[in-house]
Amino acid sequence: MTDNPVRRLRRRITAAAAVTAAAGLAAVGALTFAGSASAADTLGASAAESGRYFGAAIAPNFLGEEGYSNTLTSEFNSIVAENAMKWDATEPSRGQFSFSGGDQLVALAQEHGMEVRGHTLVWHAQQPGWVQGLAGQALHDAMTGHIAGVAGHYQGQISSWDVVNEAFEGDGSRRQSNLQTQLGDGWIEDAFRAADAADPDAKLCYNDYSTDGINAKSTAIYDMVVDFQARGVPIDCVGFQTHLSTGADLSSYQENLQRFADLGVDVEITELDVGGSGSAQADVYRAVTEACMNVDRCTGITVWGITDKYSWRGEETPLLFDGNYQKKEAYQAVLDALNAA
Ligand code: G3I
Repeated sequence: MTDNPVRRLRRRITAAAAVTAAAGLAAVGALTFAGSASAADTLGASAAESGRYFGAAIAPNFLGEEGYSNTLTSEFNSIVAENAMKWDATEPSRGQFSFSGGDQLVALAQEHGMEVRGHTLVWHAQQPGWVQGLAGQALHDAMTGHIAGVAGHYQGQISSWDVVNEAFEGDGSRRQSNLQTQLGDGWIEDAFRAADAADPDAKLCYNDYSTDGINAKSTAIYDMVVDFQARGVPIDCVGFQTHLSTGADLSSYQENLQRFADLGVDVEITELDVGGSGSAQADVYRAVTEACMNVDRCTGITVWGITDKYSWRGEETPLLFDGNYQKKEAYQAVLDALNAA
């Protein structure tokens, strides 16, 4: 299957128009609220002023908790499913799709005018058992069938998909997952082509962690983007997960984002969290937010959860709201950085 340039152009125009429209609305909002500062009192509204989103990873089972859902709808303008759109959740048996959790999040987002990021179509982790036993062409067919089923179901409703997640090692080599060992190097581009066919309007991202500067892993991903562009493989964006701790070395964080942006892909901060507390934690959040705001093609930031109490690394208290949904020092640092841009 070859890339369709007309589809890709439409996606780019659609994305550009959305940002322009959001910036226009933000400008109207700034005029409307001049003097009250209301438009810049939440993370989502502040990010929207520069045409960006500020999102959170969400688990549908917590939405019944008032603090959780109120904080989500008041503070954020983008949602990503923390687990509900992954392969094990959406296709637990071959060809038997289950979209209940993801559909719930999409409906909530649409009700509140939020974007939805898609996470993630193909990953070595959280594969259902039936996939883990497949080899060769059967695994390839399962992968493309899964992408067609999930991206097709959500067609037109996802701003950007993490098509492939975490396919590289720290030294820049390919991770020796079942996908890599069974399918060889071509599986990543095959996944992107399948996603493009299933949802021509979604931006298509490669997403990874430990890419928080110019290093062997981020350079391998950079080289892959260059190669994809040269050969017409559809790719629109790169996600930087940004799981950090206090004292993180961010000396080349912005430079790294910028070198990808200079290739003509969007960059997104996709899973931000920072282990730590107080001003040390706030400093890291501020630096990441400023870096995104300084890069024109950094389209938004997603934090990997709302409250420390439900974080995957909860004992490190890495998020912007504590267990009682109280704003932390890091929250104010992020809000200030968004408003300063
Ligand atoms: O759903 C079951 C539940 O039925 C059961 O009672 C419970 C018992 O432990 O487990 C539940 O599943 C867990 C699921 O989170 C939902 O809480 C899984 O065991 C657990 O493995 C899973 O962890 C998720 C992890 O990805 C899996 O690798 C985390 O929530 C999620 O935050 C994390 O997210 C990843 C990104 O997708 C990719 N980047 C790294 C990031 C952090 O690991």
